[in-house]
Amino acid sequence: MADDIVIDFGTENVVALSAKKGLVVNEPSIIARSISTGKVLAMGRRGLAMQEEIPGSLILVRPVVNGSLSDLPALQSLGKMVIKRCGRSKLHRSKVIVCVSPAMSSLEKRAIRDALRSSGASSVRFVLQAVAASVYAGVSPSDATGALVVDVGAGKTCVSAVSLGGVIDYTSSHAGGESMDNAIRKMLRNQRGVVISSSAAEEIRMMAGSVSGSSIHEAVEVIGYNALDGQKESIVVKADEVRMACELVLEDIFSVVSDCLSKIPPELTYDLTSRGILLIGGLAMMNGLAEWLGEKLGLVVSVPDDPRTCIVKGAYRLIHMHSNTRGIIEEI
Ligand SMILES: Nc1ncnc2c1ncn2[C@@H]1O[C@H](COP(=O)(O)OP(=O)(O)OP(=O)(O)O)[C@@H](O)[C@H]1O
Ligand SMILES: [Mg+2]
Repeated sequence: MADDIVIDFGTENVVALSAKKGLVVNEPSIIARSISTGKVLAMGRRGLAMQEEIPGSLILVRPVVNGSLSDLPALQSLGKMVIKRCGRSKLHRSKVIVCVSPAMSSLEKRAIRDALRSSGASSVRFVLQAVAASVYAGVSPSDATGALVVDVGAGKTCVSAVSLGGVIDYTSSHAGGESMDNAIRKMLRNQRGVVISSSAAEEIRMMAGSVSGSSIHEAVEVIGYNALDGQKESIVVKADEVRMACELVLEDIFSVVSDCLSKIPPELTYDLTSRGILLIGGLAMMNGLAEWLGEKLGLVVSVPDDPRTCIVKGAYRLIHMHSNTRGIIEEI
């Protein structure tokens, strides 16, 4: 029987799980393309390593930007490599399920379906990320009580009201890890006159970032470049500065959640929030975020054991443990 593969193409990470091998892919969502030949050389971590080994000879392309499809040929190439890693053989083409946001249009889904079919998939179906995550958290797709799922990733925040295996309302914004990193870079450029890379900003945020004040480190040292003379410069960034730089993005995340709550019919609000809020996506692991959001909303906020892989794990559970997935797993 052909293998089932579940893929979540994110702005920063691509995660894939295969029925045969388990969690196979969990790495940067990029492909490395040769500048001279246009050939795709590698994906993910290998692509990043190649850029360091042979700089100037390849470009890194991201198929997804701000949570939306941005480069279809790149997604096709990435999909091909992911399917191959999951163990596709010439005789048995894999059945693929792609986890998507409720904002994705039918046109985009059709384009992704065709791209992945030509990359080795025998069939391509779709499941909503929030529905899959709620199944992972134990909410049955036949449960009308539902759940409120807040996905805070690298390129987007998407808030979905899930009920009966579908999304009845959603809101989204570009607030996420990357907008925090941009805010940190802007603050250092304006206030300290130092330019740093996106990866240095992410490192600062991961080490010294927190919402409430309990970060891993009170200060982090990184290397940047003086904005005036371009000379290398080492700077120490304090946790307080990081917190201040990220404040507006945090407020944006809070507004997206309250906007979704205000869109839901009042008679459903109690049911949807009776389990509290399910916070998923990599940024859910930011120190103090879950507690801060919970306090501001007056609701319990829970984070699954791995908020980055719960979507593919939930989708896998859905296809293998629930007999009736009609209307939940979408065939385009
Ligand atoms: N321990 C952590 N603390 C804080 N932030 C983290 C942690 N681990 C990962 N992140 C952040 O989570 C983000 C990546 O999350 P995720 O993999 O869910 O995004 P994505 O699915 O690629 O993006 P999107 O869903 O927005 O398209 C990055 O910005 C990363 O810096
Ligand atoms: Mg994501």
